[in-house]
Amino acid sequence: MNVEATQRYRVAPVQRVGGAVIVPGDKSISHRALMLGGIAEGQTRVSGFLQSGDCLATMAALRALGVRITQPGGHEVIVTGAGSAGLSASLAPLDMGNAGTAMRLSMGLLCGQKFSSTLIGDASLMKRPMERVAKPLRLMGAQIDTREGRPPVVLHGGTNLRGIDYLLPMASAQVKSAILLAGLQASGITRVTEPAPTRDHTERMLERFGVGVERQGATVSLVGGQKLRATDIRVPGDFSSAAFFIVAGCLAAPDGLTVRGVGVNPTRTGLLDMLRLMGARITVTPLADAGPEPLADITVHQSVLHGAVIPPELVPLAIDELPVLFIAAACARDETLVTGAEELRVKESDRLAAMAAGLAAVGVQCELLPDGIRIQGGALRGGRIDSHGDHRIAMAFAVASVRADSPIEIDDVANVATSFPGFPAAARAIGLLVQESPPP
Ligand code: S3P
Repeated sequence: MNVEATQRYRVAPVQRVGGAVIVPGDKSISHRALMLGGIAEGQTRVSGFLQSGDCLATMAALRALGVRITQPGGHEVIVTGAGSAGLSASLAPLDMGNAGTAMRLSMGLLCGQKFSSTLIGDASLMKRPMERVAKPLRLMGAQIDTREGRPPVVLHGGTNLRGIDYLLPMASAQVKSAILLAGLQASGITRVTEPAPTRDHTERMLERFGVGVERQGATVSLVGGQKLRATDIRVPGDFSSAAFFIVAGCLAAPDGLTVRGVGVNPTRTGLLDMLRLMGARITVTPLADAGPEPLADITVHQSVLHGAVIPPELVPLAIDELPVLFIAAACARDETLVTGAEELRVKESDRLAAMAAGLAAVGVQCELLPDGIRIQGGALRGGRIDSHGDHRIAMAFAVASVRADSPIEIDDVANVATSFPGFPAAARAIGLLVQESPPP
């Protein structure tokens, strides 16, 4: 779902960034607030909602399923829950746009309903793997068709779900969350064990809606049939959007740069650990939090970064931040090695391949590995980058301009609006020289 007309960024080199900036609301939490609010009893008030292409796709889908959602302000949303059995069939396929989270979590939400649903998306989403979700849901009794493992996903309604005990084959919060959402409608207990910790927003938010969720080590479980009680949700600033400015500041903010009001759930902040390993100076100042998600101001100062061997166990905790970590590595002394990151190949683009090609285009030596990348830090030149329609690739290369010797042109950037509407203006506010060009 392209909601911004800009097709290309031209980012001129700049040596210095700084100041203070606020980033839009968290994408993962905004999706979940709408979905859980949609099946709760009563009115859920969401503040700090991310008004982006991805989250608007979830909003449109829930409305098509009969949920009443109003927006008294752009970032204020009121969801009148339909209750656990109150959703109704959509006349048309549900279009999830570019949003993997919307599609995968909806599979869990809808596979146990009495009606059938069809889920579709944009060209990128139609290529992404859905069997990772369909398989465990079928074990619960769901009837699901995919087309060679990809969307369209058809969820045949009217089946009774039963709880399962499932060991995730990959570290994926989307798969975990889909199983838990299906588990709410299943008989008995649903248990999911993860191979490595992943973001736990679903668990935290379910608890906030009054659902009993048990966590023991790597296993999370819930008893089916529990009702959700509407609540207020305050969405923190998205750490994944803050990440671009955090790296820009580590590279080029001698007087410091602060991102205010960012969610610092420890299952999301692996990037900070990685940057600290590379020598970054980062201060996290906790703020009184208004809910289940910790909130902080993050201040970074420019420092000389050196390459590092990134511990693979940090990778799931920084899964969406790796593109911009690769930019930090390209600007660091010596070599950085990232492994255990094969999941990057099935994101909005093959992020390992897209980043390797982009880094080569700006003169960085790197070696693409099946599950990661080896990057030799050094000087960056200007060049032309194909973002492959991937928002995070586009924004990562905008940050690279702090070390390039001439402009970087980034193509196919409309999807930046799926996660960070207003990115060019926010980037300019910290000193990046981002110019936008409309389609020819
Ligand atoms: C997300 C989980 C991650 C992440 C995505 C958002 C979520 O995906 O990359 O951007 O909201 O649960 P995976 O579960 O595929 O790792």
